[in-house]
Amino acid sequence: MSTPTVVDHPLLQHKLSLMRCKETDTPRFRHLMREASCLIGYEVTRDLTREARTVETPLAAAEASFLADEKPVLIPILRAGNGMLDLLPTASVGYLGLRRDPGTLTPSEYYFNAPGDLDDRLVVVLDPTLATAGSATAAVSRLKAAGARRIRMVCLLTCAEGIQAFHAAHPDVPLYTAALEEGVDSHGYLLPGVGDVGDRLHGTT
Ligand code: PRP
Repeated sequence: MSTPTVVDHPLLQHKLSLMRCKETDTPRFRHLMREASCLIGYEVTRDLTREARTVETPLAAAEASFLADEKPVLIPILRAGNGMLDLLPTASVGYLGLRRDPGTLTPSEYYFNAPGDLDDRLVVVLDPTLATAGSATAAVSRLKAAGARRIRMVCLLTCAEGIQAFHAAHPDVPLYTAALEEGVDSHGYLLPGVGDVGDRLHGTT
């Protein structure tokens, strides 16, 4: 099994632990997911290209490091991935809507709207949970078909069987996560996990 990058940072783990608590209400859950996404983003974007430019501080000229104009694209998988856009606030955003069948857990697409020039851009796919990996696998296949060649998959929680299934389908796509869960229950939820992220994020429980 390929190894994902597991971001085991105390601040990120603290946010995730608060998200796990069933007492955490929707506004707080939404805020925590934004913060957790920002924190995991440090690793996901660690190798972005930088460029030096001279700026004037109040006291002197400085050679300052800026992000090069790589035009990364975030693709949240709807609905739950929509809560992770703070991973890289300056990026372009496209959307992929996938809905899992509650019986078979097979995802079906209901919306796709992404920039047309994915070919030479970094494409970062966002979904807080990767359980069976059906959704992440379908998303990456869809983006490859649309021309993306440089893709990263980011989830906050996953498990061994999800990792195995995802890497079997897309061994070329790096996977980033913050937590490895025990497994997936018969309804397709990670255990112990955070529950139904889409519902908790949108207040639809
Ligand atoms: C959930 C979750 C992931 C997916 C993970 O989405 O948000 O997208 O399931 O499961 P998988 O790895 O087994 O595919 P869901 O279909 O419930 O939609 P929602 O985000 O709109 O709630």
